[in-house]
Amino acid sequence: MNLDDVICPCLNVTRGMIKDAVDSGASTLEEVQESTGAGTVCGACVDEVEEYVRELVSEKK
Ligand code: FES
Repeated sequence: MNLDDVICPCLNVTRGMIKDAVDSGASTLEEVQESTGAGTVCGACVDEVEEYVRELVSEKK
């Protein structure tokens, strides 16, 4: 997996940006959406973003 991969094409949000949000304290899909906007336009990427957030949060513990 590459941190430069765009996970939300609507807003050009990359996996790295999701990871940064989680590293700075976001732990839910909603918090990540607030800081990155990922998944707030067409919604097509929401499931993937949510899964990635869950994965990152569990790695952090
Ligand atoms: S691809 Fe993420 S909101 Fe459209």
